[in-house]
Amino acid sequence: MRSFVLFARRIVTCDPARATEADPLGVIEDGAIAVEGGVIVEVGPREEVLARRSALPVVSGEPAPLVTPGLVDAHTHAPWVGSRDAEYALRLAGAGYEAIAAAGGGIVSSMRAVRAASPDEIDRTLSARLRRMASLGVTTVEAKSGYGLDEAGETKQLEALERAAARLDLPRVVPTFLALHAIPPEARADRAAYIEAVRERTLPAIAARRLARFVDAYVDRSAFSVDEARPVLARAKALGLGVRVHAGQFADVGGAELAAEFGAASADHLEQVGPEGARALAAAGVRAVLLPIASFTLRQDPPPIAVLRAAGVRLVVASDANPGTAPTESLPLALALAARMYGLTVPEVILGATREAATSLGLGDVVGVVRPDARADLVAWDLPHENALVQPWGVSRALLVLRDGAPIAGEARFSPG
Ligand code: NIG
Ligand code: FE
Repeated sequence: MRSFVLFARRIVTCDPARATEADPLGVIEDGAIAVEGGVIVEVGPREEVLARRSALPVVSGEPAPLVTPGLVDAHTHAPWVGSRDAEYALRLAGAGYEAIAAAGGGIVSSMRAVRAASPDEIDRTLSARLRRMASLGVTTVEAKSGYGLDEAGETKQLEALERAAARLDLPRVVPTFLALHAIPPEARADRAAYIEAVRERTLPAIAARRLARFVDAYVDRSAFSVDEARPVLARAKALGLGVRVHAGQFADVGGAELAAEFGAASADHLEQVGPEGARALAAAGVRAVLLPIASFTLRQDPPPIAVLRAAGVRLVVASDANPGTAPTESLPLALALAARMYGLTVPEVILGATREAATSLGLGDVVGVVRPDARADLVAWDLPHENALVQPWGVSRALLVLRDGAPIAGEARFSPG
């Protein structure tokens, strides 16, 4: 079904050309979307679209209650294997995340699982996870390596992402090499040598094979310093890769300013960022990727949303799906928490998981928006209004999930008539 007309009672276009102050999401009531060959060719009032596109088949007789762009999850650690439930139990009993990591748990325990896993095991875990994400309305997933912590392990994760990215029955995958995540045990004696090897060997090898579009670094008090990350990010940029930064999750050590220095696509977390950092992000056009599920599981206070807004930073909301700080696969859960815990407005939340997220991945105008020439990545929701999207349903409310105009999840009753 790659050429069709879909009717909806409400179409949340997220199209800046339709947005107004009163309606930042550019909503069309009683609308229709015409798709040809997997690309949106027309969006507008139902009668107008129908008159011009009468040759196209119509998807079911009954209009979908609500249609949005396919959701875009701009920060995940999707190719992980194994479970850190024992660590979570320790944390429920009062142990701290950073203390568990310092004792050899945390990221390093996921490293052990990834290093021990076969490529086939990573493929199966990853594709099942991506399928569950699709069933929640997610059609694009940024996915980071970062649990290999050596060239073989990181490459194994990125190759799994490459295979997933070639599949059209899963969400789109945007791969990121998380170059600096933790120091593996065998390299503890010489941090500088580890970082140099990442910069001089692993990074160029990954870039040469085009296994990643972005490079990420975890800049924090118990991770890497600004001075350690800078040469790695500089090399990434020189190799033509985009930059993302885990910044200010536990302490403000200058990660936001570093992201701004590199004109990064995003600075992520930002629970700890000051007005200077926020201004630097805004001036450099760096999007803030907010990760409320991580704040929730770490019992942290929200990022300074008012400061970010006042500075004019564009906001993205993502799941941070990972086995430690955000054991989830649900972007809709992140949206619910962003609204209730962080105080984002409904339009901020929805734009943060569609247009703003897509732009942060270099896919602005391609996905995350319902307008002509964009890919027909669309979700029909069993919800009466976009306000209901940010409620904490805990189950999927997606009726039909389309990627390039073809269903990747959803119910058979919404098939072409
Ligand atoms: O985004 N903080 C660093 N990285 C991840 C967590 C990784 C882990 O605990 O496995 C995050 O929260
Ligand atoms: Fe993360």
